[in-house]
Parts: sequence; structure tokens; C-alpha cells
Amino acid sequence: MSDWKQYYKDHLTTAEEAVKHIKSGDRLVIAHACGEPSYLVDAMMANAASYRDVEIVHMVAMGKCEYCKPEYAENFRHNAYFVGGTSRKAIEEGRGDFTPCFFFEIPRTFTTTMPVDVAMVMCTPPDENGKCSLGVSVDYTQPAVKAAKTVIAQINPQMPWTGPYSTIDVEDIDFIVEKDAPLIELAPPHIGEVEQKIGEYCASLINDGDTLQLGIGAIPDAVLRFLGDKKDLGIHSEMFSDGVVELAEKGVFTNARKTLNPGKFVVGFLMGTRKLYDFVDHNPAVDMRSIDYVNDPFIIAQNDNLISINSAVQVDLYGQAASEMIGPKQISGVGGQVDFVRGASASKGGKSILAFPSTVKGKVSKIVPYLDPGAAVTTSRNDIDYVVTEYGIAALKGHTLRDRARALISIAHPDFRDELKDEFEKRFHCKY
Ligand code: COA
Repeated sequence: MSDWKQYYKDHLTTAEEAVKHIKSGDRLVIAHACGEPSYLVDAMMANAASYRDVEIVHMVAMGKCEYCKPEYAENFRHNAYFVGGTSRKAIEEGRGDFTPCFFFEIPRTFTTTMPVDVAMVMCTPPDENGKCSLGVSVDYTQPAVKAAKTVIAQINPQMPWTGPYSTIDVEDIDFIVEKDAPLIELAPPHIGEVEQKIGEYCASLINDGDTLQLGIGAIPDAVLRFLGDKKDLGIHSEMFSDGVVELAEKGVFTNARKTLNPGKFVVGFLMGTRKLYDFVDHNPAVDMRSIDYVNDPFIIAQNDNLISINSAVQVDLYGQAASEMIGPKQISGVGGQVDFVRGASASKGGKSILAFPSTVKGKVSKIVPYLDPGAAVTTSRNDIDYVVTEYGIAALKGHTLRDRARALISIAHPDFRDELKDEFEKRFHCKY
């Protein structure tokens, strides 16, 4: 028996036992998004009464996020790198914290300002060399394992194997818990007429052979609907969802013309259905890697013709985008938006796109004279490139403030154009 097999046997335990090694005051990092080890989190919650002030660091929390509930305020304090539906209230009500950070720099915080006591992760059973794949979440999860004093891992045969950069060693794990269970899934979004139109405009900016970064949600999926006739597209993206699978099977995504990692889908995490997880499992064309590689703007920029597509909450007439706050209310996080906006900007032939419906439910314009007071700027006016709504495309980079304001007003919802034009004329002392 090779050494790792003995190590595995010696460190095998139950979830109930493993979570007893989380101590009051510890900083605990939970594997990201659909990589969350729900079985271990449930065991931790069952043991909640024995903890005080455990700091839970998480980004996109796709599980139940029960530790954010008011009744656990003394046991846990959430420290979010990204706020979502399940954690928004805790942050708003002061029971949790938010840490602003570019996605590619999160791993660095684990060895500097935010040392990790415990990492709780999920991975595949070991291969013949004693390596386990972190599957659908390699991003900050692999660096958290490397940095943590204690690692608790759920070994789950349903986790897909996602390439040679996605692994940890059995010997990296202190407490091994076996549990065969379905992964968290994300259903494909509903794509309405507005998203379709936006998708069509975005697709018109994409050429054969380009490499794409796609964010989460309806718009990236809508873009994919208009890429069926393209050839040799590539993916270098912090994430992707089910939408990519069909086009990969049709031969649209071949990664053949990528200037960095040709032939490979390079990605940090995945959120989708079992169809996506089966597509990536043992797929030699898929390389999941840690986010300090995937999202490093200098790595991104080595992909020629890199097109990034993300979204925003508001864009003002200067071209400043608030993508994570509505006024002072934190509703999400920067994620990889700026990593890719900057990487695309430095990529030969690259473009970055911020795409969103022109209004919120027809009532409020997303193109505004000024960002709501209290909102942080996510993508600065120096960084912003293309903005797309269902009314068209505004190219902002390298254009004057007057020209970019004109371009933005031309893609605002018609109901709001007059007030934007009035603001334009006051601000720039000239006729629209
Ligand atoms: N004024 C008031 N409310 C607004 C608003 C505005 N300008 N823009 C959005 N909202 C509200 C919506 O109505 C919605 O509220 P609800 O949940 O009560 O329905 C909520 O904010 C979320 O907006 P929505 O447009 O549904 O979000 P989305 O799922 O399309 O995501 C972003 C849009 C901008 C929040 C999201 O893309 C994001 O977090 N981006 C930053 C991170 C990033 O780009 N990462 C890289 C890719 S993973």
C-alpha cells in the first residue's frame, strides 16, 4: 500500500468529528459557489452552539447560508468577498462584513491580512497518485487549502475531475469525510426579449477565433445564442455555465486559436447543472485553475482578442460603472469584473463589454447623470470600453466626455433620454 493510502485511512473520520476541530475565533474559508461541501456545512450548523465568533469567509454562497441568520449571530460572523441573495441581509443589518478585493487578489489575502485557520472543501476521491480534484471550484479554494492550518474535505464521487491544475494531495487534508451527494446546481436563467437583443449586439462585437470571458446570468447566456455561426472561439474565464456546453459540442468553442493555452478551456469555477459537470469531468480540454492565475490581468492579456462580457447596476454619463452597489447598499461584489476589463484592455485586439437592460423593470434608468450617492465605482471611466443595452452599443474608450455622454444617451431607454439630454446640455454647455 502506498503511503497516501495509509494516510487516507488514518485520517478518515465522520463529519460530526471533523467539525469539532473548528474552534471559537477561527477564520474558516468555505469552498466557493457550487463547490460548497454542504454535508460538512450542515454538520457545522448542527454543532453551532459550541462555537463563538467563527469568522466565515465565503464568496458566492450557493448553499443555505444558515450561519448568516440572526439566531447564529454569536456563533458566526460572515465575512463576504461577494454578497448574494442569502447573505445580503446579514451585511445590511451589520451582522456580517464585506471585504472589497479583486478576485485575483483573494488568494494573496489568505497569506497576508486574512490567514486561514480552517478550509472546508469538497473534492473527488483520490486518483492512483493520491491526488484529489477540487472539481467545480478551484479559484480561491485551492489557495485556501494551501494556506490553511487545518483542512476538512468531503470526498464526493459526484465531483467532476477537472484537470491537472485542479488538484490537492490527500496529505493536504487533515480530516477526510466520505459522502456521495449531488452537487449544488444552478438552473439556466430565463432569457427575455430584452436580453436577446442585448445578446445580439454583444455577439456582433465577437469575431471568429476570439477568446471569451462570460459572467453569470441571463446576458452571457443570451450572447451564446447568437454565436452558433462563429468558428474557433475560446474560453478564458473565471467561470462558465451550461450555455457553453452545447456550443462546445457543436464545435463552435474549439479554443484552437488561443494564443495562451491553445486547445484548453481555462476556468476558475463552474455553476450549472449536472450536464455541465458531466461535460467537464475528465475532459482533457478543460483546465480548471486557481484564480490568481485565471484572473491575473497580465495572464488574461496574453490571450489576443480577449472579449469580456459583464454587467452593471448603473453607468453615469462619464462612463463610471457601479456594478456591486445600489447607493450605499452592497448587493454583490467586484468579482472578476475589473480583472477582465483590465486584462481585455491590455490584450491585443481585446475588448471589454458591460451589458445590461436600459432600465430596472421599465421604471428606473440604469444610465444616469450621477451614480446614486454612496455607490462605489467598480469599473472606472478610465477602464470602461463598450457599453451595451437593448438599444445598441456605445464605444467609450478613447472618446471625450462629451462624446461618451452622447453615446450613452443614445442607448438609454427613450423614456429617460430627455432628462439625460437636459443634464448633458447643462454639463457640457452645448446642444445635444
Ligand atoms: N437601481 C435600483 N435597483 C437596481 C438597479 C438600479 N440601477 N440595478 C439593479 N437593481 C436591482 C434589481 O432590481 C434586482 O433587485 P431584486 O433582486 O429585488 O429583483 C437586483 O438589484 C439585482 O439586479 P439584476 O439586474 O437582477 O442583477 P443581475 O443578476 O443581472 O446581476 C450585477 C447584475 C451587476 C449585480 C452582477 O452582474 C454583478 O454582481 N456584477 C459585478 C461582478 C461581476 O461582474 N463579476 C464578473 C462575472 S461573475
